[in-house]
Amino acid sequence: MKNKQSWIDQRFPLTKVFNEHLAEYYTPRNFNLWYFFGGLAMLMLGMQLVTGIFLTMHYKPDSAYAFASVEYIMRDVEWGWLIRYLHSAGASAFFIVIYLHMYRALLYGSYKGPRELIWILGMVLYVALMAEAFFGYVLPWGQMSFWGAQVIISLFGSVPVIGPDLLVWLLGDYAVGDAALNRFFSLHVIALPLILVVLVFLHIVALHAVGSNNPDGIEIKKNKDKDGIPKDGIPFHPYYTVKDIMGVVAFLWLLCAVVFYAPALNGYFLEHANFIEANPLKTPEHIAPLWYLTPFYSVLRAIPPMFGSQFPGVLAMGAAIVILFALPWLDRSPVKSIRYRSPIYKWALGVFVISFIMLGWLGVQPVTPLNALLARVFTALYFAFFILMPWYTSIGKTKEVPERVTG
Ligand code: HEM
Repeated sequence: MKNKQSWIDQRFPLTKVFNEHLAEYYTPRNFNLWYFFGGLAMLMLGMQLVTGIFLTMHYKPDSAYAFASVEYIMRDVEWGWLIRYLHSAGASAFFIVIYLHMYRALLYGSYKGPRELIWILGMVLYVALMAEAFFGYVLPWGQMSFWGAQVIISLFGSVPVIGPDLLVWLLGDYAVGDAALNRFFSLHVIALPLILVVLVFLHIVALHAVGSNNPDGIEIKKNKDKDGIPKDGIPFHPYYTVKDIMGVVAFLWLLCAVVFYAPALNGYFLEHANFIEANPLKTPEHIAPLWYLTPFYSVLRAIPPMFGSQFPGVLAMGAAIVILFALPWLDRSPVKSIRYRSPIYKWALGVFVISFIMLGWLGVQPVTPLNALLARVFTALYFAFFILMPWYTSIGKTKEVPERVTG
């Protein structure tokens, strides 16, 4: 074994990379359960890639056969139902993990310097992930696939001047149909997975350049022993590789419970209307994207059309995503972690989380006058979190941050 390794090491920096990024990569010793989610996001990406490869072996990207090919996977392909449900419930599980991963960054100020680029790359990942999920949802060519695509793509038609031409260019046709399905398939199966894998690699490169933050928001590299090892650091391997196994087991347990007992999760992971084949002549009663996109869909619906154009809503929806990129520069707090922040930040974060969840919930509800009003209130609160951030993070009394990590 030793010889073999040295044979490889003479030709490839295997041990060097292993040591630099795992066995001698020092991570804060106080990681808590919030630090499971980055690794779990990687696990989910891997699972989506593997199950996706097997689905592609049987799926037909043709509007005449797509729906039937998914039914064929569910009924006739050996274990096809399991692969499909792992992939469809996996998409929602992936977003749950990502939202918790992002929330951790908000809790501990992980986006603040010197980790701005980790956050920016994370945000690009998030946008790519939303596109990946949207294209994937169109592929089974059910009612919601078709009408969801219709609603989302028609938003591009609201762009002033170029809108109608842009729409035809995007669809490759005058309506959502076979040409759109084909290109969505190609983007979902090849382009976006490639982009996601490259982005995750860059995200980790950026992380390893500066090192992880931690629940105390202290830079462990500032406090090193005489050998240059951070006093509050422990090697990632074996300590966190072993700890992560616990997170993976608990997570897979929950995922399996959903996949085996409630794969559609009462319409939240797979909408009921998507078990009916796409029918361009019959609009479903309510059209809504899946839960992970509904907060932004609510922002879109909260803004009334102007001169008959939906463009203001589209702009607001875009702004709701773009503003997240600016977070590292909006936050002026002298401390990173919520543990030492002022009470006003804790309130602001609480209101933001409630607004985001409420917008998500309202996105799947029918539009009533009350729901429209609520969507406007929560949209205003959502934006207030960011716009007022430079102000409320620079006032209020923060607690003193200890020298060394606690716990
Ligand atoms: C496929 C998607 C993603 C994968 C696989 C991924 C993976 C990871 C991993 C493995 C870590 C280190 C472990 C950890 O801190 O949990 C990490 C850290 C981080 N990620 Fe992600 N991530 C993804 C998406 C995102 C997104 C969408 C954001 C935010 C917009 C983000 C922001 C961060 C930040 C700020 C850190 C540093 C956290 C700290 O040190 O406290 N990531 N990511």
